[in-house]
Amino acid sequence: MTETPAPPMHLSGHLAPVPDEIEAFDLPVTGALPAELTGRYFRNGPNPLPGERTGHWFTGHGMLHGVRLRDGRAEWYRNRWVRTRELAGDPFIDEGGTVDLAANPANTHVIQHGEKILALCEAGYPYRVTPELGTVGPDDFDGRLITAMTAHPKEDPATGELHFFGYGFFPPYLTYHRLSASGELAESYEVAVPGPTMMHDFAITERYVVWLDLPMVFDLALADRGMPYRWDDAYGARIGVMPRSGPRKGEVTWFDVDPAYVFHVGNAHEDAQGRVVLDALRYDREAINGIWTQIGGTGHESAKAAAFLAARLHRWTLDPATGHPAETPLDDRDVEFPTLNDAHVGRAGRYLYAVSDGAVLKYDGGAHAGTYELGPHGNPGEAVFVPAAHGGAAEDEGWLLSIAGTPEGGSDLLVLDARDLTFQAAVHLPRRVPAGFHGNWFPDAA
Ligand SMILES: [Fe+2]
Repeated sequence: MTETPAPPMHLSGHLAPVPDEIEAFDLPVTGALPAELTGRYFRNGPNPLPGERTGHWFTGHGMLHGVRLRDGRAEWYRNRWVRTRELAGDPFIDEGGTVDLAANPANTHVIQHGEKILALCEAGYPYRVTPELGTVGPDDFDGRLITAMTAHPKEDPATGELHFFGYGFFPPYLTYHRLSASGELAESYEVAVPGPTMMHDFAITERYVVWLDLPMVFDLALADRGMPYRWDDAYGARIGVMPRSGPRKGEVTWFDVDPAYVFHVGNAHEDAQGRVVLDALRYDREAINGIWTQIGGTGHESAKAAAFLAARLHRWTLDPATGHPAETPLDDRDVEFPTLNDAHVGRAGRYLYAVSDGAVLKYDGGAHAGTYELGPHGNPGEAVFVPAAHGGAAEDEGWLLSIAGTPEGGSDLLVLDARDLTFQAAVHLPRRVPAGFHGNWFPDAA
């Protein structure tokens, strides 16, 4: 008699998918929901169909979970798959080798820019969705976008423009794009890199775009795995600083750095000496190879599902005048999913937030400055910072929203005071929400 193999990490425990779409109204709340939190919290993540055995955590069909808050009440929860061509079964690359950028799972992030809410996955085009989580369809910005779009675009807080990029298996490996504040694709150009790598995130500062060209390289031989990337010692590792405007616009100064991988940037800014300071969550070779095995579904099934929260806050200081990088480890806690007050994207700021196995953490100036412990069943997801709406609010005045597991095996939308990480409220969701990727808070229009 043959035993059924245990499911891989991403199909079990708190990452296991849910089988259907539901909605519920007037959700129970413990604590006091701030009335100022009037809007929608949406979160994206992979959710294979019932019975489907996706090989890689990153390749499941995108599912959005939404919680509607208004005037201190939690009005509704609902979850919906994004109706992508990928969900309908269309191939990303057909037998003739043609790539369909709309046939991606739209499973990684959800943002609002201009009038659009977009579900994002770095493999292809964004999918526009409605405030009620219905799918409008793939969006290529009136036909102007001809590459994929990262799931981590950066909105400049001063100009309102959205900076992003697309990367791909085939040339051009990297293309920079900029959307106007109102959402027109204003500019696209190729950025030369040595080869195709998995480029999940990047950074901006007031004057620069910051590129992460790191040694998780594309390998066609791994194509059946869904995410065909592996560590390559020979590739090296470099961070690029590229002027956003001026006579050297688009010219990248590359800094060779100690080989590492970064999924997520915390933030970057220019210091008083004109250097670019990048704070990001760094994996060394051993750490990325360990989590990549788990994420890829080939790790040991008993491995702890939170083992992927294994990056450490690290600072690279890059001086365009000397071409010399300085590296500083900032903390030795294993964390992931960094967030900040988005008004400070690309600018100097004091605070970052992140999650670890069972806790939400705060950093002040790169130093650990507080922890909210959830206990053994906590499993907090990314903690999204929602700023207080009144004028003159301090950088950390606001709330952190995170979907977290409960001891009963369900999920709560947890609301913490971002200043001291104290508990404010928990919205008890009608079902477990699988641990996923990224989300956002969309406030009601003033
Ligand atoms: Fe991400």
